[in-house]
Amino acid sequence: MHGKSDASKIERMTNLGKTLSFLLAGALVIVPAFSQSEEDLTKAMKTVGKTMGELRKANEAKDEAALKAGGAVLVEQFTIAAKFWASHKMADATEMNGKTLAAAKALADGSGTMAGVGSTCKGCHDQYREKLADGSYKLKMSH
Ligand code: HEC
Repeated sequence: MHGKSDASKIERMTNLGKTLSFLLAGALVIVPAFSQSEEDLTKAMKTVGKTMGELRKANEAKDEAALKAGGAVLVEQFTIAAKFWASHKMADATEMNGKTLAAAKALADGSGTMAGVGSTCKGCHDQYREKLADGSYKLKMSH
């Protein structure tokens, strides 16, 4: 009788162990998805650059729908960038990113302009963007 209940106790403990290791494995999979790498930032900025090119054309054509759509893409990308700055605890970059994000939101809802967004890029680039000899860009972390 005792033997049987011990066995089921052990079985329960084993199941708990399985559940815990399942949860831990889950956590290991989830964590990297939330932490932002420089690659994520580069990818976001490349999309931003491409979108600004499209916005320039939309601006010349006074295509309001395209301006709003481009604004929405920028909102997405600067939301990704915001996570990068936050996860690296870079408060000044987070603040500059926030200004760009706010300007992008205004463009997306029709209350802002493309120039309003464009005027917010340079401050951060001056401080945190470095152009390499091969013409590509990287994050400058020497501040
Ligand atoms: C808060 C900081 C910050 C803001 C705001 C910001 N950028 Fe950047 N951007 C960076 C950094 C840092 C890099 C270099 C990192 C990289 O590309 O790996 C970069 C790189 C770029 C690149 C080069 C991407 C590549 O690797 O080819 C483009 C294009 C770009 N940004 C466009 C923009 C535009 C347009 C805006 C404004 C609408 C903007 N950025 C606003 C920080 C910022």
